Amino acid sequence: MPDETLTIIDNRTGREYTLPVTHGTIHATDLRQVGVVDGDGGLMSYDPAFLNTASCRSAITYIDGDAGILRYRGYPIEQLAEEASFLETAYLLLEGELPTALQLEDFEQTIRSHTYVHTNVQKFLEGFRYDAHPMGMLLGAVGALSTFYPDAKQIGDLESRRLQRVRLLAKLPTIAAFVFRHSRGLPYVLPRNDLGYIANFVNMTFEIGGGHEPNEVLQRALEILLILHADHEQNCSASAVRGVGSSQVDPFSAVSAGIAALYGPLHGGANEAVLRMLDEIGDVRGVPAFIEEVKAGHGRLMGFGHRVYKSYDPRAKLIKRVADDVFAQTGLNPKLEIALELERIALEDDYFVERKLYPNVDFYSGLIYQAMGYPTDYFTVLFAVGRLPGWIAQWEEMLADPEQKIARPRQVYVGEAERPYVSLAQRS
Ligand code: CMC
Repeated sequence: MPDETLTIIDNRTGREYTLPVTHGTIHATDLRQVGVVDGDGGLMSYDPAFLNTASCRSAITYIDGDAGILRYRGYPIEQLAEEASFLETAYLLLEGELPTALQLEDFEQTIRSHTYVHTNVQKFLEGFRYDAHPMGMLLGAVGALSTFYPDAKQIGDLESRRLQRVRLLAKLPTIAAFVFRHSRGLPYVLPRNDLGYIANFVNMTFEIGGGHEPNEVLQRALEILLILHADHEQNCSASAVRGVGSSQVDPFSAVSAGIAALYGPLHGGANEAVLRMLDEIGDVRGVPAFIEEVKAGHGRLMGFGHRVYKSYDPRAKLIKRVADDVFAQTGLNPKLEIALELERIALEDDYFVERKLYPNVDFYSGLIYQAMGYPTDYFTVLFAVGRLPGWIAQWEEMLADPEQKIARPRQVYVGEAERPYVSLAQRS
């Protein structure tokens, strides 16, 4: 028995149990011994939406929600956003250490040599209607990649896993850019492997007739946004990737489940929802009335609040700085004034203060993406491109963890007891 333990008395039976405490947790299966009669299965813990349940041990991302701290593999997000490139951050998340110059060059070169997708992927995308939501197209196309790479099923093979990792990182920007072009009815621009990861992605989305002028400030701003989104421990989409991946499906299918989870307005889709909310408010004079509506329980202030951060979201702080750089290039986004007023009022209002609701990563990112020229329904695609390294790192960590099995929560059954079937003629 370890030094730290928890003693519980079951008042139903008067029996006492001592459970080991490790890393500030008790093991839920230790509760199975706490039964009333033999064979009753013992106690379960009930935790809808996993408010207080650790589903894994992880060495990837550390968050202290009260102190507003976010670190990837121990490195503060502020320093990575300032100094690192996106692929360097991806390498860090995947390998656990920052790459040497040689390792980074090799990694970038390998990714570069996998940026093309099979031409059938283009045909597949053409099957979508002109107004298909970009996230729907993205999740469908990434899921479809599994049919192009049946070797990805060999998830127990290290070399195969490495190859799929590279394919995913290399091809997601290509598919994301094709999705953008499809929405606009523009011909696809093929990857240019003389360009870096971000520059190539931007070129594939915006190039028309040789007229796209690369803007290094905007490219670096996009890169910082992708770094800030690269992982966020056991969020809804990472949990989806782990949960679906735990069935031992290939990583393309598992990642497409992550994209589906990200699509929702309470997760990555919030950046799109923020812009729609600002459109709905329309004018800074509409802000007080909107806040009152939210407080009365009619809708939420999108881009506010977080399950884990209860003081502030460190990513939101950094994003505000990125916004200044971007708006200096593009001119102010007219909706910024509404956003700033919303933030000002909400941060002073008891409703938001008591519930510890602060701007999250999505509050300002949409305004930046819009200023960069991305349409509103495309914002979450950019989040997905950023989150991909985290999903892969979480998936690989799950596979390597001997304690993990297929994810299969328990339930508390509250339905009918057994009853006999009633034939159709006898039902009233
Ligand atoms: N606006 C108004 N009230 C809110 C909000 C909000 N954005 N968020 C939470 N609340 C209230 C909620 O009504 C509840 O009040 P009460 O105790 O009176 O019932 C209380 O705060 C606690 O809310 P909760 O729903 O129990 O909190 P949660 O931890 O389950 O939800 C959240 C976290 C992020 C889903 C939620 O804050 C939210 O819906 N925010 C808006 C959507 C959003 O911006 N999502 C992006 C999250 S950050 C990017 C990412 O990682 O995906």
